[in-house]
Amino acid sequence: MEKRWWQEAVVYQIYCKSFCDTNGDGIGDLGGVISKLPMLKELGINCIWFNPIYKSPQVDNGYDISDYQDIEPSFGTMEQFKELLDKAHAMGIRVVMDLVLNHTSDQHKWFQESRKSKDNPYRDYYVWRAPKENGKEPNNWGNYFYEGRGSAWQFDETTGEYYLHNYSVKMPDVNWEYEPLRQEMYKMMTWWLDLGVDGFRLDAINRLKKPAGLPDSKMPPAPPVGIYGYVVDRAICTNVPGIHELLRTINKEVWSKYDCMTVGECGNLSSDGALDYISQGNNEIDMLFHFEIGKNPNIITVNEYKQTQQRWIDLMQHNAWITQFLTNHDSARQVSRFGNDQQYRVPSAKLLATLIHTMPGTPFVYQGEEIGMTNVHFDTIDDYDERYTVGKYYTAVEAGEDPEVALSRLRPTSRDNARTPYQWDDSENAGFTTGKPWIKVNPRYTEINYAADRASKDSIFEFYKKLIAMRKTNPAIIDGDFKFLLMDHPQMVMYLRKCARQTLLVVCNFSDETVPVQIPAELEGFTWERLLTNREETAPSLERRDNWLPWEAEVYQVKL
Ligand code: NOJ
Repeated sequence: MEKRWWQEAVVYQIYCKSFCDTNGDGIGDLGGVISKLPMLKELGINCIWFNPIYKSPQVDNGYDISDYQDIEPSFGTMEQFKELLDKAHAMGIRVVMDLVLNHTSDQHKWFQESRKSKDNPYRDYYVWRAPKENGKEPNNWGNYFYEGRGSAWQFDETTGEYYLHNYSVKMPDVNWEYEPLRQEMYKMMTWWLDLGVDGFRLDAINRLKKPAGLPDSKMPPAPPVGIYGYVVDRAICTNVPGIHELLRTINKEVWSKYDCMTVGECGNLSSDGALDYISQGNNEIDMLFHFEIGKNPNIITVNEYKQTQQRWIDLMQHNAWITQFLTNHDSARQVSRFGNDQQYRVPSAKLLATLIHTMPGTPFVYQGEEIGMTNVHFDTIDDYDERYTVGKYYTAVEAGEDPEVALSRLRPTSRDNARTPYQWDDSENAGFTTGKPWIKVNPRYTEINYAADRASKDSIFEFYKKLIAMRKTNPAIIDGDFKFLLMDHPQMVMYLRKCARQTLLVVCNFSDETVPVQIPAELEGFTWERLLTNREETAPSLERRDNWLPWEAEVYQVKL
């Protein structure tokens, strides 16, 4: 496969709202990001992915866009964005925007026009349907935000029709069947690429195409929310026939004309259907995020983790490239979810990083991972902001669940775990803002923060730096073959990365226990040199090792 820049990239995801506030309004801003560019440069990343920073009423923290070609005023201005882009580029850091093509805000001028009359030129930019004979919604779909408590259709008095909103009622789905809408979208993406951005993370990209005739979902309504009669069927608008043709068209009209990176968020997609999207010859998108590892709330075993990785890595044999990430702004914090955020917070954060940075594919670091930020425990639902947690909570409580029980159930998977402000130091509000933060700071900030981590001899940030630097000097990480060893071992994750110039071995004890394991016979007879460890206290020689400390992670290379 012809080498592209994003295959050598390490991407850092910035949730601007929670990163760094420079004007004291409690909301992170572009000035904050500019001020931290040197820190990102030092970390070694060479690409930023911004969660949406366009003008938005912030119903869904920016995924509800009211103007695609302007910056959200609480984040800054277009001038500041251009300054940021120039500064980042001058430092060798590319900038990728999050693009939401499935829906807009109801405040977008297209929708404001669309709802005015049935013959408005913007009417068909959105999906409108007449009520059923009994006045009810056109079908039984429930919106994702209210877990079956609400329909995916909203009746609009002005024209007496319903509009489709798979997400919030304030986020109407756009209509990709309508050519003028497509043309507007192409123009808008072209405008950003001409401005100099380096690509897009494509929100919910496999949901753009809706099933012909918008049929009822056959999925039974799940109790207890079944009482409302709406079915939250995330699959029904996902990977619908015609989606590939649509993506190929967008690729031809826009993306193929630039040296840009496209990475699509693809919920409800298994490795079986993935090649259609990412096989290079198909000319659709470059990479995708799947949720076979990272999706809340499933807890994955070490064996499942290995099997899933293997399935996705196998796709790379077919002219395709994959992503490596464990969490993002939509999930719990990785060290809390996959590691141990108490006794082994530091080594487990480093082990997870080791996997992300040495497995095949492009690594994505979510802000705060590089200092081992953890989940948050808010005492009341009022402290939670994000729509899924709040929606699920009230749905459950309305259906009779004890409020405390409902909250305890929802806490570990809340997306707010990842959205609390970046913990810069141990001063008030973790140094994130001098004002009142838009969402509370994680109380663990006095112990876990950037300044403390940088001062520690066991710094996670330093470990990330080493891993990211290794990528540049060890060809096997990007180009090497991949082979798991000890595939069926329930705790150890061990693999070889081999290219013509180098053989690397990664050994990780993915558990809280000391694991007695000897190295497989096929590794004997070589001299192994340790390149990296998160456990300096262990012997650097692989040959004599027969047990591995909890969360120990090592990288070795064959000494030639
Ligand atoms: C996926 C985004 O990552 C998430 O944060 C958002 O709520 C939905 N898409 C809707 O845009």
